[in-house]
Amino acid sequence: MVACVALAVVVVARASAPVRGDESAARKVRRGERATKDDADDARAQSNRRANVLSAIGNTPVMRVESLSRLTRCDIYVKCEFLNPGGSVKDRVALRIVEDALASGALRRGGLCTEGTAGSTGVSLAMVCKAMGVECFVAMPDDAAKEKSALVEAYGARVERVRPVSIANRGHFVNVARREAERARARDGVGGGYFADQFENLANFRAHADGTGVEIFSEIGAELDAFVCACGTGGTLAGVGVALKERKPSVKLFLADPQGSGLFNRVSRGVMYTKEEAEGKRLKNPFDTVTEGVGINRITENFKVLLDRPGMLTGAVKVSDAEAVAMSRFVARHDGLFIGSSSAVNLVSAVRVAQSLGPGHCICTIACDSGLRHMTKFWDDEYLAKIDLTSHDVASADSLSFLDDDTVVTAARC
Ligand SMILES: Cc1ncc(COP(=O)(O)O)c(C=O)c1O
Repeated sequence: MVACVALAVVVVARASAPVRGDESAARKVRRGERATKDDADDARAQSNRRANVLSAIGNTPVMRVESLSRLTRCDIYVKCEFLNPGGSVKDRVALRIVEDALASGALRRGGLCTEGTAGSTGVSLAMVCKAMGVECFVAMPDDAAKEKSALVEAYGARVERVRPVSIANRGHFVNVARREAERARARDGVGGGYFADQFENLANFRAHADGTGVEIFSEIGAELDAFVCACGTGGTLAGVGVALKERKPSVKLFLADPQGSGLFNRVSRGVMYTKEEAEGKRLKNPFDTVTEGVGINRITENFKVLLDRPGMLTGAVKVSDAEAVAMSRFVARHDGLFIGSSSAVNLVSAVRVAQSLGPGHCICTIACDSGLRHMTKFWDDEYLAKIDLTSHDVASADSLSFLDDDTVVTAARC
């Protein structure tokens, strides 16, 4: 009897913040039924207690976006990756890269892990490295939002902000990071310096194939009709895509692409560049977009996973900055969902995919990071006005008129 009461108290206490698996026990207690030992074991097995910050990475919630689902008469879900401890989808990638490098001996504890990144991966890598006893160096373009470099430095990692130039230039942040790892390896031997190389390193793809994709399927399962997301490295779309297709081959995969990126053309027309979009031809920034972390004008090893498997991609959606900005304001006001720029591109695309498939379909995408990472650019109306981006009126919860009519889904010809 005493044991039963104790068990009920434990289950009631946990019922205030139920996790998957102990919900049924909590529900029983709320209904006044007695929880069984099996329920308690189940609740313990699903415990929310974590050994350290690393074990809090992943298993993020999948959430229905009510406004967009209602307006498209589909179910639109986001996988809330901004709830990872480092604040973005890149936590799982950083963890897998460092784990794999330590396991192979390419990196040792006390060694230096370097990365060139427009932001999120740097934050995640700094967090993961510090938790694993590895030093961290991050090179990033100096036009990336300042809060990202400040965060990387907060974890004690070294940051170098460089001019945004073409990848062909030795001063590109990726090349700066690679050289820093080479220097450390030359000085300290194998394991002393390791370039994370998220663009080409397939540990990135594996993190999503074994993690994000499996989690999405376990939450949504056979109901899922389509998955769409934008690509920086391509790791998310490739990894999630492969995991979903293995489990349900009829799931349709779509690329979302911001303005200035060449991937949309590569997927929908079979050619990488428009004349204006060829990386290296621009004088200033290769991507004339306010979005961060997505869009690219070269084929990475991670994106190649998709191209190497015929029939993986069903199509692509092009998204303008104005649409992304408006979408972020719309879901903040109508759903209480405060997202960053790549997540907004993803949601615009999810709507377009929903509209092209028609009512009754189920579409999932990624909320990569929170709007908090973007307060000084994407979420700063004064900054946006300076680059001629004025917010659409998104006050009406009954209209998606802020989306351009020509944001179409184009079939894949990759
Ligand atoms: C905020 C953010 N969203 C999305 C992405 C794109 O994800 P992936 O690199 O898996 O294509 C990135 C990549 O750096 C990112 O930083």
